[in-house]
Amino acid sequence: MGIFNLKVPITAAAPVPTVRLLSGYELPVLGLGTYAITGEKCVNTVAAAINMGYRLIDSASFYGNEREVGNGVRRASVPREQVFVQTKLYPNQYSYAELAIDEALSKLNLDYIDMMLLHHPAHNDSEAYAAIERAIKAGKVRTAGISCYYERELSAFLPKVTVKPDLIQNEVHPYYQDMNVVPFIQSHGIVVQSWYPLGGRGYTAKLIKNQTLQEIAAVHHKSVVQVILRWQLQRGIVPIPGSSNPAHLKENLEVFDFELSPEQMAAIAALDCHEKHDWY
Ligand SMILES: NC(=O)c1ccc[n+]([C@@H]2O[C@H](COP(=O)([O-])OP(=O)(O)OC[C@H]3O[C@@H](n4cnc5c(N)ncnc54)[C@H](OP(=O)(O)O)[C@@H]3O)[C@@H](O)[C@H]2O)c1
Repeated sequence: MGIFNLKVPITAAAPVPTVRLLSGYELPVLGLGTYAITGEKCVNTVAAAINMGYRLIDSASFYGNEREVGNGVRRASVPREQVFVQTKLYPNQYSYAELAIDEALSKLNLDYIDMMLLHHPAHNDSEAYAAIERAIKAGKVRTAGISCYYERELSAFLPKVTVKPDLIQNEVHPYYQDMNVVPFIQSHGIVVQSWYPLGGRGYTAKLIKNQTLQEIAAVHHKSVVQVILRWQLQRGIVPIPGSSNPAHLKENLEVFDFELSPEQMAAIAALDCHEKHDWY
């Protein structure tokens, strides 16, 4: 995977830059996470985010908001084809994955899903993945991803599938950096996308108070959140911070006009304490 082109100011007319996936599709290097954002708030948040320059929206069957995400995509004043929509199959759907993909399409009410991911490893994940591959051939889905696959899970999974996933979505933040797993995944040409990029709900406030991050943020006249997102981008990781706060949405996009030095990257690397904020 090439280095992201990150020196691009974001406006509605010039949205987030992209990285080319193994499948040839272009993935925006920063997106919106929609976990815990539901109902009308979800519709409005997705539409507002797209209108301000976001082009990547992450959903999941588990979040119960696919209908609202689809409505938000349609409500935005940007053509649907310019937005990359991800959703996920939950393990309890793997045994009827083909039907579950049709259900997701129907809830999103979109002509196709840009990326369908497996939410977690499971004993029948390769069968569900095969169903995604069939849906790609049928034009219902464009490409496939997986989530919560670390070195051991990925090594077990890859020999079971014919086409590599384009992307793996894993937990990554300054207190859980996956320093070995990220390059391992990237060495396969697979893009790493980070969930809980800001530590996750309930942990963000603690992360924002970190002294090292605050000092680096002050040097760049940026917020700690912007430094965290920029640190992920410079590692070649695609963050999908979650927010329904318009000011935060805007702030989280403004990460393409500064650069962390190698010393600052190293100082953030030193914060890793293997503190996982969720069980998977
Ligand atoms: N594959 C998986 O298993 C998995 C697991 C978890 C999450 N995910 C995905 O990853 C996405 C991101 O995770 P997440 O949303 O749970 O956690 P997160 O992005 O790490 O943190 C979200 C929290 O950060 C706050 N926040 C966002 N921008 C901020 C800013 N500029 N300043 C201060 N606070 C800010 C949000 O509050 P406000 O709303 O007030 O801005 C919210 O409380 C999810 O939405 C979901 O799409 C996937």
